[in-house]
Amino acid sequence: MKRTLSLILSVFLVLSLCGAAFADAEIVFKMGDNQPASSIQGTTDDYFAALVSEKSNGRIEIDVYHDAQLGEEEEMIQQLQFGALDFAQVSLSPLAEFAPQLDVLQLPYLYDNADHMWAVLGGEIGERYLQAPADSGITGLAWIDGGARNFYTTKKELTCAADLKGLKLRVQSSQLMMDMVSAFDAVPQAMSYGDVYSALQTGVIDGAENNWPSFIDSGHYELCKYYIVDGHTRVPDLIVCATSALEALSAEDQALIRECAKAAQEDHRLRWKDEEAAAEAKAVEAGITIFYPEDISDFQNAVQGLYTSGSMASYADAIAEIRALA
Ligand code: GCU
Repeated sequence: MKRTLSLILSVFLVLSLCGAAFADAEIVFKMGDNQPASSIQGTTDDYFAALVSEKSNGRIEIDVYHDAQLGEEEEMIQQLQFGALDFAQVSLSPLAEFAPQLDVLQLPYLYDNADHMWAVLGGEIGERYLQAPADSGITGLAWIDGGARNFYTTKKELTCAADLKGLKLRVQSSQLMMDMVSAFDAVPQAMSYGDVYSALQTGVIDGAENNWPSFIDSGHYELCKYYIVDGHTRVPDLIVCATSALEALSAEDQALIRECAKAAQEDHRLRWKDEEAAAEAKAVEAGITIFYPEDISDFQNAVQGLYTSGSMASYADAIAEIRALA
């Protein structure tokens, strides 16, 4: 009898502990991204949300809406500014329109390779740039690898920079990215990620540019049969939040959120290379004509002017400190 009673008591204890862990959340946040739930960017957001729930014993819940359900990146950035959205994963490109210092980080051929980029983003420089959108009411929490971006087209095989001449190419909503495409004598068309597939399909654009996983996840590989591995930019994504949402939390909870975002950054960073290789293999399997240029100096020379023209002219020191880590 005594044993039965203690068994019942322990079962009760375990159940009530579980109850505590999965109690209704006290704080519920909304987070948006523009990638499928199954993508590496999407799974990173789910990991972040799960970690926040776990570390707060279920007190803080982040509901993640994938696939631009809450709007395209440009719209999510606007919602974050007035607190209509709490968290998002967005690309640096459209965010830089609100925090121009960020443009430095997406200059073409700024980084020698992924290690160089992470030496910048993962250290003191990266921490500083996470604060760049502060004046817009947005707090940067973590860097998410966006790999190297490459050009691809529906009809024209690409083997050198001159092949881009005259092509209508989609870029992200970013003046600097438009200027980059113009520097290749191509015609830039800025549009949201979600609009690119139909623009390719209807011939509004001749091509676009992106990293390997997004080339596959977006389905662009179904329409674009030519891809050149020119690696013109490395544009990271960021996990960001509305500063008002963060500041409404206690100091401990703010620290918890920051710590979980950094853990998501690390988890994503460790998975990226494999995801990139798997997406590239999928493109090969799909019969995409991939060109690996041995020499990309024609691409590099074409964009050199961007380093000293327009707003970049005043960022020479910022560029130099990044190059110093190469
Ligand atoms: C990548 C990036 C997205 C971005 C997209 C784009 O996929 O991860 O955040 O929206 O590029 O080209 O717009």
